[in-house]
Amino acid sequence: MAPLKSIAVLTAGGDAPGMNAAVRAVVRSAIALGLQAWGVRRAYEGLVGGEFLELGARDVGGIIQRGGTVLQTVRYPEFEQPQLQREAIAQLEARGVGALVAIGGDGTMRGAAALDRLGFPVVGIPASIDNDVYGTEISIGVDTALNTIVEAIDKLRDTAASHRRAFIVETMGRHCGHLALMSGMICGAEMTLIPEREVSAEEVADAVRGAYARGKTHAIIVVAEGARLAANALKETLDRMNTGFESRVTILGHIQRGGRPSAWDRLIAARFGVAAVERLHAGERGLMVGLRAPAIIATALQEVCGRKREPDLEIYRMARMLAK
Ligand code: F6P
Repeated sequence: MAPLKSIAVLTAGGDAPGMNAAVRAVVRSAIALGLQAWGVRRAYEGLVGGEFLELGARDVGGIIQRGGTVLQTVRYPEFEQPQLQREAIAQLEARGVGALVAIGGDGTMRGAAALDRLGFPVVGIPASIDNDVYGTEISIGVDTALNTIVEAIDKLRDTAASHRRAFIVETMGRHCGHLALMSGMICGAEMTLIPEREVSAEEVADAVRGAYARGKTHAIIVVAEGARLAANALKETLDRMNTGFESRVTILGHIQRGGRPSAWDRLIAARFGVAAVERLHAGERGLMVGLRAPAIIATALQEVCGRKREPDLEIYRMARMLAK
């Protein structure tokens, strides 16, 4: 196998805060390993159409803190066609590109897996606010989206409590309840509706009525966009069933996808970016990098005392590699 000389990177699917930090990490670590780096604009459609731009270290300066993706993205279901996949590989090979890093969600990984099956070296980086990508505890963008939701619900709670209202807040997440579940938990929602669990409008009404009876000044119900009971249908039922609270619906929508990436998203973006390039450089392929988050554990107090947790010096190494 010829040694790897050049890699390309693309972002695909819905944008996610932190994608730019990942692009920067891919480009800078590739350069640090002596590779040429290319960016592909507009995801797989741009790959098929040959929208390549060579990227140097300076080209990815000043993007670490920016939401969205400087490479732009497009949904391109047509990429399921093998003919288009072959054209994509021809475009890569015409420029001497020996490997691709694909940043995105499950659709992006399907495209990456197709290229892998056709024999082209690819490594994926999970980035999707939905957090529905298999093989990682968390994808790039989830933490920022959650922070956006929490900020929005905190504001809604202020007005809800002032008016004694129940707010039904719809979060994104497509068919996955992760964003709703997490935000419901950390915002103290009376109830959270997710696609993975069925709840009747009557059950929600009972919970809201109970909150009113306990003297609460407000109620928050978080509804994932994929939940079987839609936010507006739920409002109609709550109004009909007279829970004590007046109700309002807020659909957070695409606001959840924008904004400056959080510290956590920048950190995993940097780590995933370096890991993806290092794996390709080492000859590995057909993989997606991911994070296995630690579980809640308990440690004997006697063991904790007198010891110190050391920082992760692997990050020290990566940070030096990216500071170019
Ligand atoms: O996958 C990310 C996501 O924001 C989903 O949560 C949502 O269902 C979908 O994308 C919206 O897609 P679009 O940006 O094409 O409207």
